[in-house]
Amino acid sequence: MFRAAGRQMIAGTRAAAWRALSGARARAAMRPVRSARAAPLVQSRGVKQISFGGTPETVYERADWPREKLLEYFKNDTLALIGYGSQGHGQGLNLRDTGLKVVVGVRKGGASWKAAVEDGWVPGENLFDVVEAVERGTIVMNLLSDAAQSETWPTLRPLLTPGKTLYFSHGFSPVFKDLTHVEPPKDIDVILVAPKGSGRTVRSLFLEGRGINSSYAVWNDATGRAHEKAQALAVAVGSGYVYETTFEKEVNSDLYGERGCLMGGIHGMFLAQYEVLRENGHSPSEAFNETVEEATQSLYPLIGKHGMDYMYDACSTTARRGALDWYPIFKDALKPVFRDLYESTRNGSETKRSLEFNSQPDYRDKLEAELQTIRDMEIWKVGKEVRKLRPENN
Ligand SMILES: NC(=O)c1ccc[n+]([C@@H]2O[C@H](COP(=O)([O-])OP(=O)(O)OC[C@H]3O[C@@H](n4cnc5c(N)ncnc54)[C@H](OP(=O)(O)O)[C@@H]3O)[C@@H](O)[C@H]2O)c1
Repeated sequence: MFRAAGRQMIAGTRAAAWRALSGARARAAMRPVRSARAAPLVQSRGVKQISFGGTPETVYERADWPREKLLEYFKNDTLALIGYGSQGHGQGLNLRDTGLKVVVGVRKGGASWKAAVEDGWVPGENLFDVVEAVERGTIVMNLLSDAAQSETWPTLRPLLTPGKTLYFSHGFSPVFKDLTHVEPPKDIDVILVAPKGSGRTVRSLFLEGRGINSSYAVWNDATGRAHEKAQALAVAVGSGYVYETTFEKEVNSDLYGERGCLMGGIHGMFLAQYEVLRENGHSPSEAFNETVEEATQSLYPLIGKHGMDYMYDACSTTARRGALDWYPIFKDALKPVFRDLYESTRNGSETKRSLEFNSQPDYRDKLEAELQTIRDMEIWKVGKEVRKLRPENN
C-alpha cells in the first residue's frame, strides 16, 4: 500500500556531521585508559540552545565532555554502580571503557553477580556486595530494580554520608516517596540520568560510536555542582545528547510513554486492527502483514529516520488521503484515554500498582501467566512464522 519514494536526505545535514564527530570521539573514548595521554581540557563546543519547534531548550552533547575532560572531572571519584540489570550492564561497561573508576555492587551469588563476572568485573577488586560497593563509592549509582530500591533503602540510607552523590536512572523512588519510603538526605547531591532506551541499547550505541538520548535532573544541589556533575555523568554513561527535566517530569513521562505509544497503546492498536481484519475474513498472513510487518519493517524505520511529515510525502496519493482523513479521528478517540493515563501516572496509581504487584511473593508466576497469554495470541504466533519467511532468516 505504501511506497517509499526514493527521496534522498539532503546531503551534509547537521545530523550526519554530528554522527561523524561523535563516532570519532567514541572510538577515542573506547581506547583503554592506560593509553590516555594528558591532554589540555578544551571544551570543543559550547552548550547549545536549540529551538525545538519554536521552544528553546538547552542541550548538552558528547562533544561538550570529551573523554579527557571526563577523566579529569571524575579523577577523585569512585563510581559505585549498584544493580547489574539492563542499565547496570550498559552504563557500567561504558563507564569502564571510558576509563573511570567503577565498582559494581550486587547480591553475592545472584544472577547479576554471575553476569558481572562474565563481563570481566573481578570479585574483591571491582565487584562487591551492595553495601561494600556503596561504602567504597563517592558517587552511588542506584540501578537496582525500582522495587529493590525501596526494599534496600533502610540499609543504604545510613551509608549516604556527606560528600557522596546519589544517582538514579528513574525518578520513581524519590518522587513517590510516600509509597517507596526513599527519602534522599538533603545534604548530598541527588541527580538523575535517564537513558531513553534499554540498557542494551545504551551499550550497543556506545560501541557503534553513537549515543542514546537521555534526560537529566537534579533533586538536591548540595554542592552547587550537581547540574554539571549530572551532565558529565550522562555523557560518561553513553549519552549522545542530554536535555534537562525534573524528577517528577521524568517519572511521569516515562511511565506514561511506556504504557502508551511505546508499549501498551501500540499493542492495543495492533490487536484492534488485526482482530477487525480477521473478523472480516482476512487471512492471518494478510492481517499480520497489514498491521505489524509493514509498520515495523517499512514505515516505522522511515518515520524514525525522516519523520511522519516525510511519510506523507513518501506514500501513494490514496494512502495519503486516507491517513489525512483518519488521523484526527484516531487522535480524538484516543486523547481522553491518554488524559486518563497521564492522571493515573501523576497521582501515583501506576506506581502503587507496580510496587504492589511486583512485590508479591508469587509475582513471577503471575507475570509468567500473563506473558504466556500474549505468546499464545494468534497475532504473535503468526508473527513468528512471518519473520521466519524473511529472506535473511532462511
Ligand atoms: N531497563 C530499562 O530499559 C531502563 C531504562 C531507563 C531507566 N531504567 C531504570 O534503571 C534502573 C535499573 O533498571 P534495570 O532495568 O537495569 O534493572 P532491573 O532489571 O529492574 O533490576 C535488576 C537489578 O536489581 C537487583 N535486585 C533486585 N532485587 C534485589 C534485592 N532485593 N536486593 C538487591 N538487589 C536486587 C538485581 O539483582 P539480582 O540479579 O541479584 O536479582 C539486578 O541487579 C531502574 O530505576 C529503572 O527504572 C531502566
